[in-house]
Amino acid sequence: MSTTTSAARAQTVLGNDDWWRDAVVYQVYPRSFADGDGDGTGDLSGLRAKLPYLRKLGIDAIWLSPFYTSPLADGGYDVADYRDVDPRFGTLADFDAMIAYAHELDIRVIVDLVPNHCSDQHEWFQAALAAGPGSPERELFHFREGRGDLPPNDWESIFGGPAWTQTPDGQWYLHLFAPEQPDFNWDNPAVRAEFRDILRFWLDRGVDGFRIDVAHGMIKADGLPNVGKAGDERQVMMVGRGELPYFDQDGVHEIYREWRPILDSYPGGRMAVAEAWVPSPQRLARYIGRDELHQAFNFDFMMASWDADSFRTIIDKSLMEADLVGAPTTWVLSNHDKHRHVTRYGDGPVGLLRARTGTLLMLALPGSAYLYNGEELGLNEVLDLPDELREDPSFLRTGESRDGCRVPLPWGGTPADGFAFGPAGAAAPWLPQPASWAALTAEVQEDDPASTLNLYRQALAVRKSNPALGGGAVRWLAAPAGVLAFEREPGIVVVANLSKVPVSLDAFGGKALVTSGPLTETGELPVDTAVWLQR
Ligand code: NOJ
Repeated sequence: MSTTTSAARAQTVLGNDDWWRDAVVYQVYPRSFADGDGDGTGDLSGLRAKLPYLRKLGIDAIWLSPFYTSPLADGGYDVADYRDVDPRFGTLADFDAMIAYAHELDIRVIVDLVPNHCSDQHEWFQAALAAGPGSPERELFHFREGRGDLPPNDWESIFGGPAWTQTPDGQWYLHLFAPEQPDFNWDNPAVRAEFRDILRFWLDRGVDGFRIDVAHGMIKADGLPNVGKAGDERQVMMVGRGELPYFDQDGVHEIYREWRPILDSYPGGRMAVAEAWVPSPQRLARYIGRDELHQAFNFDFMMASWDADSFRTIIDKSLMEADLVGAPTTWVLSNHDKHRHVTRYGDGPVGLLRARTGTLLMLALPGSAYLYNGEELGLNEVLDLPDELREDPSFLRTGESRDGCRVPLPWGGTPADGFAFGPAGAAAPWLPQPASWAALTAEVQEDDPASTLNLYRQALAVRKSNPALGGGAVRWLAAPAGVLAFEREPGIVVVANLSKVPVSLDAFGGKALVTSGPLTETGELPVDTAVWLQR
C-alpha cells in the first residue's frame, strides 16, 4: 500500500523531469548519518527524523549509500538481498515511510545500486558454492580453474591482492573488490533479468534515481585475458590511463540501453548517475545520453590542489567535458571514499576556512553538486582511529583506510536525536567521535550565524533563488595572481582568494551575498576566503 503512495507522490508532487541537471544532492551514509533507535548504528528512522534538517539545509535530493541486507564487509557495498533493508538499518516499511516524508518535503531520493558484485552471503553465491564446478549456479559468477597453484589470471583486487579466491573444491572465483564481494557474470541472461527486476522494485517504491556503483565494471573481456602489467605498479593505478580487461568494456553499454527504457517508463524524471572511472572524456561520454545514463560523477574537482591554477584548469576541463558528454557535470568535494576536504586542505582552522571556500566555489558552478553528510558541519577526517576499530576492507589489505570519513555525525542534544555527542543511555556510535567535535555538533551550530552549517544554508538558499546559478556559463574575469574570479548568469560574481595576501574587491563591484569567512575591516577579501557578489 505504501508503495503506491510513494510512487503516486513521485508522480504528483515532483514534476520537472530535468530536476537532476542542477540539483544539490546530499549523500547519506546510512550507518553514520543518524541513529534513530540508539543502538550506535545509523538507520532509516534516524534519517526520516532528520529530513526536516535536510529540508532546512536546502538540498534537492538525497543519495543513500547501500542500506540493503548485508554483512557490511564493505560498508554495505556487499549486498546479500537487493530487495530488503538490513535489520540494522530498519525495514522496508521504514524505507517507505522515509521516502514518503522526503517527497512531502520536496526532497528526491536516489538509491545506490551495486550491480558489479554482491555479498558472498547472497543466496545465489551460497548456492553456487554448494552446487560445485560445472553447475548452472556457478555460471552466475566467474568461477575458473587455476593455473596450477596460481589464480586463473593476473588480475588484482582494487582493495589489494589477487582478484581471485580459491574455494575448497579447488576452483577460484573472481572478485574485483574484497573476497566477500564476488563479481556477477553479466554474460548470463539471468543476471540481467534479475537487475531489471531490482530496478523496477525500487522504482515502484518511488525512488527518483540510482547511483550506479562501479558502472564501468560489469562486463569482462572475453577469455579473461591477463593484464600483463609491467613492474609492480598496482593495476588500479592504471585506471584512467589505459585499457583494463575488466573495466570500460564496450558490452557494458548494452546493459544501460536495457535499463534506460525502464527508467523512462516511470513518471517524474527517474535518473541514473554513474560512478565510472574510464580513461578519457570520450569514453565517459559513451555512458551518457538519451539511451543510456543521465550523468556521471566528475571526481577531478575533488583532486584539485589548493592552488588557483589547478582549480581553474579543472573547472575549464570539466565544463569542456560536460559539453562533450552533452550533460551538465557533477561537482564533488567529499564522499565516503575520500578524506574529507577540511583535512585535505590542511585541517584545523585553515583547512576549515579553505573547505568553506571550496564549497562556495563548487556551489556557484553550473551542474549538479554532490555533498557528503557532515561536510555542512565542517567535519574533518578522523585520522587517529585505533586500527582495531577500522573496518574498511581496503585498510586490511593495503593500509589505506576510508573509515575516517565514515565516523557518525555529531548531532548533539539527547539520545533521541540520534548520534548525540556523549549521549546518556544510547549505545556509543559504531566508530568513536573525536572530542573536538563537541564544538561542531549540529545543535551548537544551529543558531550561530558564522557556523559552517549556516554558511551552507545561506549558499543553498541563494543558489535556489537564482536558478541560473545551476546552469549557464562561467565567464572568467581578470584577477590578481592566485585569485579566481568569474561571473555567472544573473550578475553574480564569485571571487576566491587563493593567494597569500588580502585582495581588494573594488574591481568587481557588487554587494556581498555570501562569504566563506569575514572580510577585513577595510572590506578586503582575506586569504583563503571566497565571496559571492551581486552586481
Ligand atoms: C565504490 C564505492 O564508492 C566504494 O565505497 C565501494 O567500496 C566500491 N565501489 C565497491 O563497491
